[in-house]
Amino acid sequence: SQPLRLGIAGLGTVGVGVVKIVRKHAALLHARTGRDVVISAVSARSRDKDRGVSLKSYAWEDDPVALATRDDVDVFVELIGGEDGPARDAVAAALAAGKDVVTANKAMLALHGQELALAAEAADRTIKFEAAVAGGIPVIKTLMEALAGNEITRVMGVMNGSCNYMLTRMESAGLTYDQVFAEADGLGYLEADPALDVGGIDAAHKLAILSSIAFGTKVDFAGIELEGIERVSIEDIHAAADMGYKIKLLGVAQITGRGLEQRMQPCLVPDTSPLGQLEGGTNMVVIEGDSIGQVVLRGPGAGEGPTASAVMSDVLDLARGGARGPVFGQPAKDLRTSTPATSQL
Ligand code: HSE
Repeated sequence: SQPLRLGIAGLGTVGVGVVKIVRKHAALLHARTGRDVVISAVSARSRDKDRGVSLKSYAWEDDPVALATRDDVDVFVELIGGEDGPARDAVAAALAAGKDVVTANKAMLALHGQELALAAEAADRTIKFEAAVAGGIPVIKTLMEALAGNEITRVMGVMNGSCNYMLTRMESAGLTYDQVFAEADGLGYLEADPALDVGGIDAAHKLAILSSIAFGTKVDFAGIELEGIERVSIEDIHAAADMGYKIKLLGVAQITGRGLEQRMQPCLVPDTSPLGQLEGGTNMVVIEGDSIGQVVLRGPGAGEGPTASAVMSDVLDLARGGARGPVFGQPAKDLRTSTPATSQL
């Protein structure tokens, strides 16, 4: 059968991780899908940068829109990032040109997910985004596939590893917020704009995406009651510890009598609970459904291997040909607008 041909835009940590898996696991990918998975072309800001992986067998495009619309590309893999700009332009162009899209771009989906889903479904194509939420943890497929027979009652968790790293360092090393911020920044653990991490915005992007799938509502980032970790002091951490609690940047989404409640804020959790035990850059997502009860997923929420692993899960779904369903699990035109519960407080 025909190979599945990828065009990869963005060759940062995740893009390079995807290239490595496609090369290293060619035989495995073929065995699991019955076809070859190949890279036709790539695109990034700098062509000359040494990324530790050979790109010379792939065509090069400076412009991601040109990449996304190439005839020899079946699936456009968007790993540029950013809510607008080249990422969004190239995804829109790919859909218009009849390509499926795989993306790790949580900001774009949190802010423009509804519009992009409508465009994908109108073109009879799909956008897949396992890597956009909690990195390597298979939370999208868990919600959309494994738990599709449940009414979901609540989704919650720790979805930003950078903040969890900072909070656990404050606890374990007694460092101040400013000290752990400098440390995390020095280690490269923070986004290019660190406010996305410490302001809770990145985690809230992820929560907005999960809410849409869980509750059949349009992605509503603006409806999230949001507070980051910037005001968490070492005194707060010590006071919580004295009472047997830890402070976590916790996201919670649930339907209440007042509507859809979405919160992302520092919370006290018992230090012996699974969430309280979550250390370093790890993420944890807890899903509750009427038949399943509770499912707890835990794992690496960022990094080259884990995030590329999630991207590949989507690529393989498309290679098998069975993945053209609605972007958020039900047709975008049928997603409900839910009054944010928090706006009525
Ligand atoms: N800075 C993010 C995190 C990267 O730590 O979770 C993955 O989205």
